[in-house]
Amino acid sequence: MYSAAQLFFKYLRYRFIALNGKGHGTHSPFVYAFIKNLLNDQRSFYAYEQVEQIRLQMRKDQRSIQIEDFGAGSRVHPTSTRKISAIAASSLKPKKYGQLLFRMVAFFQPKTILELGTSLGITSAYLSLANPGAKVWSMEGAPAIADLAESNFKTLGIDHIQMVRGDFDKTLAPLLETIESLDFVFVDGNHRYAPTVNYFNLLKPKMREHSILIFDDIHWSQEMEVAWEEIKKDESISLTIDLFFIGIVFFRKEQLVKQDFTIHY
Ligand SMILES: C[S@@+](CC[C@H](N)C(=O)[O-])C[C@H]1O[C@@H](n2cnc3c(N)ncnc32)[C@H](O)[C@@H]1O
Repeated sequence: MYSAAQLFFKYLRYRFIALNGKGHGTHSPFVYAFIKNLLNDQRSFYAYEQVEQIRLQMRKDQRSIQIEDFGAGSRVHPTSTRKISAIAASSLKPKKYGQLLFRMVAFFQPKTILELGTSLGITSAYLSLANPGAKVWSMEGAPAIADLAESNFKTLGIDHIQMVRGDFDKTLAPLLETIESLDFVFVDGNHRYAPTVNYFNLLKPKMREHSILIFDDIHWSQEMEVAWEEIKKDESISLTIDLFFIGIVFFRKEQLVKQDFTIHY
């Protein structure tokens, strides 16, 4: 993984090359609408308050839990006993991104949603509250963390998330055998080159023209940047949007010329 200083310089570079986030100079009507309707939507939704209340509770929770360190590990907490408050402070997508995913799900209305990496269930909650009619799967390897996520779903009254427990390397392929297609996928766990490319290759046959695939932390490390560049080149993809902390992939066929955007968010 990059050091904090390296990441900071990467972020400065991103800010320098990113479009201004207002859509000026964007020649794709779809991307212009994406910026206007989703990135720049400042409205507050009731679900935001509900989910952020749970995040706050988790940030105050001083209990320690045993966790198995899957994947790329943590920059902040390499040990296997962690306070829930520390997990809530360092492992979860900040509200800015959780709420963007909420708006994307509310806007595109995906019927099938998959998240790799539930953690405490904060982003899963955003995804599922945005479309209560969707079928949602969320995958988590650490049992104590998965227990907390399920208890948070209960508190929020969410009953349409199916938790898939265990190592993605063992659980993803069998799960995908039971699903015909996926409309919305958020890959947020095991941020390393080989697993990320492998997850993409497993997910690709389940993608349809309207599907949206999101990778977290695409600039977190050199190997994640290489994985992101490789995924972007795949011939099935028609459009990508790099928001620095997440990368969004579209398969829309009406996009005749493949385009990669970097947009300030
Ligand atoms: C960054 S956290 C997910 C945060 C969550 N998506 C959110 O924003 O609220 C990543 C989670 O993925 C889990 N994870 C990482 N690699 C995994 C693997 N190979 N199999 C199963 N779970 C894994 C970790 O235990 C961790 O809880």
